[in-house]
Amino acid sequence: MEKIRDAILSGDLNAAGDIPVPDHYRAVTVHADEVDMFAGLETRDKDPRKSLHVEDVATPELGPGEALIAVMASAINYNTVWTSIFEPLDTFGFLRRYGKTSELAKRHDLPYHVVGSDLAGVVVRTGPGVQAWKPGDAVVAHCLSVELEHPDGHNDTMMDPEQRIWGFETNFGGLADLALVKSNQLMPKPAHLTWEEAASPGLVNSTAYRQLVSHNGAAMKQGDTVLIWGASGGLGSYATQFALNGGATPVCVVSSPQKAEICRRMGAELIIDRAAEDYRFWSDEDTPDPREWKRFGARIRELTGGEDPDIVFEHPGRETFGASVFVARRGGTIVTCASTSGFMHSYDNRYLWMHLKRIVGSHFANYREASEANRLIAKGKIHPTLSKSYPLTEVGQAAYDVHRNAHQGKVGVLCLAPEEGLGVTNPELRAKHLTEINRFRGV
Ligand SMILES: NC(=O)c1ccc[n+]([C@@H]2O[C@H](COP(=O)([O-])OP(=O)(O)OC[C@H]3O[C@@H](n4cnc5c(N)ncnc54)[C@H](OP(=O)(O)O)[C@@H]3O)[C@@H](O)[C@H]2O)c1
Repeated sequence: MEKIRDAILSGDLNAAGDIPVPDHYRAVTVHADEVDMFAGLETRDKDPRKSLHVEDVATPELGPGEALIAVMASAINYNTVWTSIFEPLDTFGFLRRYGKTSELAKRHDLPYHVVGSDLAGVVVRTGPGVQAWKPGDAVVAHCLSVELEHPDGHNDTMMDPEQRIWGFETNFGGLADLALVKSNQLMPKPAHLTWEEAASPGLVNSTAYRQLVSHNGAAMKQGDTVLIWGASGGLGSYATQFALNGGATPVCVVSSPQKAEICRRMGAELIIDRAAEDYRFWSDEDTPDPREWKRFGARIRELTGGEDPDIVFEHPGRETFGASVFVARRGGTIVTCASTSGFMHSYDNRYLWMHLKRIVGSHFANYREASEANRLIAKGKIHPTLSKSYPLTEVGQAAYDVHRNAHQGKVGVLCLAPEEGLGVTNPELRAKHLTEINRFRGV
């Protein structure tokens, strides 16, 4: 891998494609024989630093329609936190089920799981049938792995029954020096960004794009008021930018003055610090408190001059969902892609049906949506939200930061890249957007 890395660092990406690929590589794994290691602990006490390993694993055989990528940088997503704490299920079940679907898929069913659902790097090999990409191409990868042998996926690939999230429901993910992807996961690396900046938007940017902008999600339009939970976090930092970029007004919910400051830097003006204002949507574990929903709704109206949100961008789940349904305007949309605080939601259905609101489920993005989201990054209209990068050897700490909500925006991971700041091939565009690219740094 060192020879491949050196060729990439020298700028001769095509040469990287001529070097033999080693039969093993460095990767971040969890182990099947450790899935019970946190038994009996509370979620917050399960420590990714104990379960994530950095070790050498065998290079997988390359199949039709696939590509091997030399990974310069990757990023932490919440799905790696879930994998590392073995919640709500351990991910070996996904690998076992996938392994049963075909001879080729059997490669994924291993006693270790190489995790990670983002990457920026260089194509080093392509399998039979790959026409659109070649060794030497600088790429980022989105995380939709799809078989497309069934008719259901042919309007919207997210509807394919064999749809999986790469590096979470499949093996050979991006937190490694080498990764195996399907070639229809690849997109051009934005030329004005460093490897670690380019690797950081992928999963959350594409998810937020479908969830908020796409007609498959909330179909946001100019003038909409959008309530965004976790507005400085992974998903929320892109949702906030999409709202501002698309002529909507974000109402950003965060939990500290630092996070509020980041939202201001993105251009948001209406911000709620949920910690300072101490919203308690549940009076005890089983009892929601509608008075708190009303207090929250009144605060939103105070900020917006009396408007309720056209769209609520949901992902915290159980803790906030009742409030989200309550505060959405008549005819408004609550669009949800996750349940970080618990997946059994409860809300007062009278507010939903009497006020003709809609709850829309959303999950990742199809290739077209991921590519449109990446195009916005490449054009410098939406910017990475990278706050910090760790070397691959410290991936456990990186995942721990995200698990404990001690991070801002995205946390990057350097794989083959020896340091930050490398890989920029369009310095002019970079110079134009340097302030925006760096606005999550050092907060
Ligand atoms: N379905 C999909 O395709 C998809 C894709 C990406 C992510 N996800 C899921 O979406 C969730 C968020 O991902 P992310 O990358 O945005 O994570 P993140 O970077 O940790 O950001 C989430 C933010 O949500 C806020 N939050 C957390 N718990 C909360 C609570 N109980 N009440 C209110 N706000 C809360 C926090 O912001 P403050 O503390 O500042 O309020 C936090 O920064 C995760 O569960 C992840 O697995 C799903």
